[in-house]
Amino acid sequence: ADLNLQAIHDELIQVAYEAGKMMLAANPANIDTGTKLNSVDIVTEVDKGVEKMVSTRLSAAFPSISFMGEETYKPGMRIGPEPTFVVDPIDGTTNFIHSFPEACISLGLAIERIPHVGVIYNPWQDLLYTAIKGQGAYMTRVRGTTPQKLPLAQTPRPISGLGSSLVAVEWGADRHGANFDVKTAVFRQLTASRDIGGSMCHSLRSLGSAALNIAAVAAGQLDCYWEGGCWAWDVCAGWAILNEAGGRMAGGNPGQWDPALEERVYLAVRGAPSGQKELVEEFWGVIGDGRL
Ligand code: IPD
Repeated sequence: ADLNLQAIHDELIQVAYEAGKMMLAANPANIDTGTKLNSVDIVTEVDKGVEKMVSTRLSAAFPSISFMGEETYKPGMRIGPEPTFVVDPIDGTTNFIHSFPEACISLGLAIERIPHVGVIYNPWQDLLYTAIKGQGAYMTRVRGTTPQKLPLAQTPRPISGLGSSLVAVEWGADRHGANFDVKTAVFRQLTASRDIGGSMCHSLRSLGSAALNIAAVAAGQLDCYWEGGCWAWDVCAGWAILNEAGGRMAGGNPGQWDPALEERVYLAVRGAPSGQKELVEEFWGVIGDGRL
């Protein structure tokens, strides 16, 4: 209850910069790579090394705060109401091993299962996104320069429906069965011309990192981001940032983001003076009841 969120935020930024150094120092050509669920669900020794550094530093600085990280997660673990760091050491591991410069560390703090602090850092672009609940969201482009408030446009445009939106989606690691069928059908529906029943959004984007997609929505660079199958560590930090930027996280199962749950559908919508709610409804119309 009497946690100093500012001190936590400041430490998370230092930890993020340290993680960034480890990522930039790694040579993707000769890092040890393994897989988890299948051949496209990739983990590297760098993911594990960064998570170890992060958990060691955070447990030394804030011993009373619990920790959940992607690489030490075991099925059945849950996020409780107690303050918990929710960490993805490298979000965008696939990009990382291909040297595609969109990957980041995602550091969140949840209290009562609600994201309170978020820090996301992409070391390849030297882009830092941060937020503390109730205190706004910021982006720092190049370390040491003045943070810019999010969303970047001082007056965000109203949202006028899917038809004029730039939408982020991801393929994720699930490549078979109902999940894959729904995903590919939704991609088609989103892009198809209206005369064949689609919503013909301006286009689709996939940064390859859930956290960076959410950060781009918070910045107002994307109108929305939809994915089924994200994990708590993919979304916790981004969610804190999105909320503070006036955005909104909707889900087929809103707020039920515990990793133990099967249904983890997220729709992040940018801040706007109007049209957020309508976009969410239009989106659910496209994907049926939002189930995967
Ligand atoms: C993944 C990335 C990817 C998204 C997956 C995530 P990882 O995280 O964010 O873009 O589609 O759902 O699990 O494995 O790179 O940490």
